[in-house]
Amino acid sequence: MRFPEEYVFSIMDSLVIRGTMRPKDLKTRIFLDGGDPEETREIIRLLGFLDGQTTNPTLISKNPRARYHLERGEKFTREEILDFYRETVREIHELIPEGSISVEVYGDLLTFAEEMLRQAKEMFSWIPNAHIKFPTSREGLKAAEQAVKNGLRVNLTLCFTQEQAAAVYAATRGAKRGDVYVSPFIGRLDDRGENGMDLISHILKMYQKGDGHVMVLTASVRKIDHLLFALKLGSDIITLPFNVLKEWCERGLPVPQVDYVYHPGNFKNIPFKEVDLTENWQAYDIRHELTDKGMERFSADWNGLIKA
Ligand code: G3P
Repeated sequence: MRFPEEYVFSIMDSLVIRGTMRPKDLKTRIFLDGGDPEETREIIRLLGFLDGQTTNPTLISKNPRARYHLERGEKFTREEILDFYRETVREIHELIPEGSISVEVYGDLLTFAEEMLRQAKEMFSWIPNAHIKFPTSREGLKAAEQAVKNGLRVNLTLCFTQEQAAAVYAATRGAKRGDVYVSPFIGRLDDRGENGMDLISHILKMYQKGDGHVMVLTASVRKIDHLLFALKLGSDIITLPFNVLKEWCERGLPVPQVDYVYHPGNFKNIPFKEVDLTENWQAYDIRHELTDKGMERFSADWNGLIKA
């Protein structure tokens, strides 16, 4: 017996609603942004799939087991906190052995590239599916350039401008597609009244003139509309906090159609710039206040876990 096509599709849709399969028209990879393996477990249960996870020092500092220690007045030694990060990442790896897991080096404003690279090599050995996160700062890019030459996969984080994304492209030239991610932080641009989603759209457009070796990973997502618009724009990857992923699931994993319109509210537009991708990375203007602030916040949250 043959069922009419509409009937088959409605069964498929209800399976999607129960979160047991990936929507058929979803091309973007979906990552969880978090530092708690329990959330990873729950998201896999709800969605039925997960393509990867991003972590960072702030997210690790929010891990309930780390909080439990801190609340009892038990801070970690430097060695213990690194062991804790490694064990957390290994637990996540067990849950998504095929997915990518981003692990971030410690980098404050005084950390040199050599030190970031040393940490990166160690972290890369923790699990077979790591991408190592470096800040999109001068030292971070210098370290990432070397990391890629050493065969490491990288994720350049705290990206707030097209020029920074162009520098990521230039610093990692020659790497294979999938080995390099750039993470534009849209929520933090929204926070200061600029339309963060413009940055995703501009970087994707700028990269069309390149060789495609850098994948755009939309990060600092705060709401479901960030997700929907990033899907519509064709971001390669989107990393989402637990609550937004859960809401997406509760709504039946919608994938926006051509008529979807994103409303940025009163945010100021970020204008597109013609940026040439053929320069050396050092030629781009990569300074951004939010990158520095982000590095300060990550390092402060990490240091808050450590015994004085
Ligand atoms: O993936 C980046 C993310 O963890 C930062 O998010 O909300 O602190 O800007 P947020």
